[in-house]
Amino acid sequence: MWLVVVSVPLLPAILMVSSRYRVKVAALCHRALAWTLRLVRGRVCVKSTHAFVFSTCTHGKADSVLETFDLYSETHPSLCISPQTGEAVDEVMRRVCPSRALELGMHCGYTSVRLLRLLPPAGRLITVELDPLTADLGEEVILVAGFKHSQFQVLTCSSAEAIPTLHPFLEIDQATSEGLNLVLMDHDPQQYLPDLLALEREELLSPSGCSVILIHRKQRADDIRGILEHIRARPDCYCIKSELRSMTEVFYRQESTKGDR
Ligand SMILES: C[S@@+](CC[C@H](N)C(=O)[O-])C[C@H]1O[C@@H](n2cnc3c(N)ncnc32)[C@H](O)[C@@H]1O
Repeated sequence: MWLVVVSVPLLPAILMVSSRYRVKVAALCHRALAWTLRLVRGRVCVKSTHAFVFSTCTHGKADSVLETFDLYSETHPSLCISPQTGEAVDEVMRRVCPSRALELGMHCGYTSVRLLRLLPPAGRLITVELDPLTADLGEEVILVAGFKHSQFQVLTCSSAEAIPTLHPFLEIDQATSEGLNLVLMDHDPQQYLPDLLALEREELLSPSGCSVILIHRKQRADDIRGILEHIRARPDCYCIKSELRSMTEVFYRQESTKGDR
């Protein structure tokens, strides 16, 4: 009620501002609506994916969880990576055998389960998810797949907030300069470059080698141009290992530790 009382005298001013800036106001409203729709659709997708996986898979079996996700995405829209991209991620995991892995954009936990099942016994995964409901449901899927909290940690915040807090979670040993050996980015392509710069600034990438996997849905290939330009401009520490339709693998290593790439 008080809002109405306060707004009525302001109405002429509001009308004048919105007619003067109507294009900008319309664009703002359009962006707000699109963002709200994305959020609502995302939540529906997360809830129904989680419900299907939870009730259909064999609990405690990571492969069954992954097969159930794949089965779901055959008949429903899904934000998870495809089984083909998943196999390419598996190939990197088998080759790198990372002791410290970071995932940005956990969603329902599909990629997290893929990464966790190929981590070495003492390996650890940190996974970051912005949306609290998604983070809760994704964490439940990881537990259903049979993994323990000693093997993974979910951080419910934006990647930009998470990265500066990662040192204690990763238990980085200053003496051996151990850092992340694998980073998988599948969150917001606009954040890929700022997040890579933050990981560099915080010295979180292992100087002896870190694979950075960039997932790019087909229609968004343009979005990763910025990060690829940065990588190509730094041949002293980066090289592009492979470029697939939906995934690019980049290898980072500090000059002083370079040997056999
Ligand atoms: C495409 S989905 C990830 C799919 C997941 N890799 C899989 O295949 O199972 C992207 C997720 O990133 C999250 N996200 C978007 N921007 C983010 C950010 N800046 N920080 C952390 N998470 C973010 C979204 O909420 C969404 O759940």
